[in-house]
Order: sequence, then structure tokens, then C-alpha cells
Amino acid sequence: MDKQIGLFEAIDTQRALRYIKPDPIPSEMLDRILLAASKAPSGGNNQPWEFVIIQDQGVKDQIATFYKQAWDDSYGKATDPGRLGTHSYNSAEHLASHIAEAPLWIIICVRHNGAPETMGRGASVFPAVQNMLLAARGLGLASVLTTFHTRFEKEVAEILDLPENVQTAALLPFGFPEEGRGYGPTRRAPVDEVMHFDRW
Ligand SMILES: Cc1cc2nc3c(=O)[nH]c(=O)nc-3n(C[C@H](O)[C@H](O)[C@H](O)COP(=O)(O)O)c2cc1C
Repeated sequence: MDKQIGLFEAIDTQRALRYIKPDPIPSEMLDRILLAASKAPSGGNNQPWEFVIIQDQGVKDQIATFYKQAWDDSYGKATDPGRLGTHSYNSAEHLASHIAEAPLWIIICVRHNGAPETMGRGASVFPAVQNMLLAARGLGLASVLTTFHTRFEKEVAEILDLPENVQTAALLPFGFPEEGRGYGPTRRAPVDEVMHFDRW
């Protein structure tokens, strides 16, 4: 926990790390991740987030079955040669079969009042999710933002005993990266392709 990296180094190298060792992570790291999440902005400072911390193998296994099903139903059926065999595809497929082996999961949920879902609902919890990813980056832990489980929202809500006004937003698995896997520069389109001055 002592070695600190700079803010912009963390931002520039925070990428999906889906090869995760089963070794447990120290509880101080979990505390640091949760504290980072709790510092995020939210609409009206409502802080509508709830964090379900999962270490129980039985709970992980149940949800992982739905996660794998969602993968198999969508990307798992991909035949597009441009997608198959790419690093991203292979790593996402690997995670779909191994997500339950990550020692720690956090499912980030959002409290809501039942009003129709708008962009605002997720917008107030995804900054907390990003803070968790950056905290993981700072701690040298592997993680990745995942949402496949939301295709089985009802089933997952039942497993987690979620109250009616609580919806899951993302599932983050955490652990130490497997040997030879690590953070590095992200591949993103140049920003000048997506910027507009004053008007589109
Ligand atoms: C809204 C959202 C949903 C995502 N859902 C999943 C997911 O269910 N499973 C997964 O493996 N990755 C998921 N990702 C991770 C993206 O695939 C990843 O961030 C993107 O491909 C960039 O990869 P990189 O960070 O390695 O460059 C998701 C990312 C976002 C922002």
C-alpha cells in the first residue's frame, strides 16, 4: 500500500485486467477501495450507492452462472473474425469462465424511487465505480467493470436479497493480477476525433 503512483499515470494506464489470481487481498485494500468510492460525486450529493461485498464462494458461484450464461448468449456466439481471437475477446471470455475465482467482488447498486429509469440513475453511481477502478490501479490490484449479470437482474437481486428499490449497476471482481498480466497504456481513439468546439 506504500508505493504511490501519480494521478495521471493511474488514469492513463487503468485498463481492464481480467486475469485474476484467487489469492485473498488484504482487508486494508478493500477499505481503501470503498473509501475511494465513497468520495465520488453524485447528483445533489445524494450518494445513492450501496456496495455489496462478496467473498462467499457460494454466492459468487450462483451469480457467475448467470454471468456466463449472459456471455454465452451474446458475445460467446460471436463469429465475426474481427472480434474472435482479439486480446479483448479472449480476456472477456476467460473472465466469463473464471470470474468466481476472483477472491473479492463488489456489486455496486443504486437506490432509486421507482421512477422510470433514466441516464441519471446510473450517472450517480458510475463515478464511484470509476473511483474503485482507479483505487485498484493505485493498489496494483486487477479489476474490470462488468455488467453482464444485469441481464439476469431479477435472479441476481433474489440471490442478494436486494430490496425492491435497489438495482445493481456493476460487478467488479478484484484480486492480484496473474503473472505476466499488468496495467499499461490504454488503446483509445485520439481525442481530436471526438472533440467539438462551441458547436458540433
Ligand atoms: C458500461 C460498461 C460495461 C462493461 N461490461 C463488461 C462486462 O460485462 N464484461 C467484461 O469483461 N468487460 C466489461 N466492460 C469492460 C470493457 O469491455 C472495457 O472497459 C473496454 O473494452 C476497454 O478495455 P481496456 O480497458 O482493456 O482498454 C464494460 C465496460 C463498461 C464501461
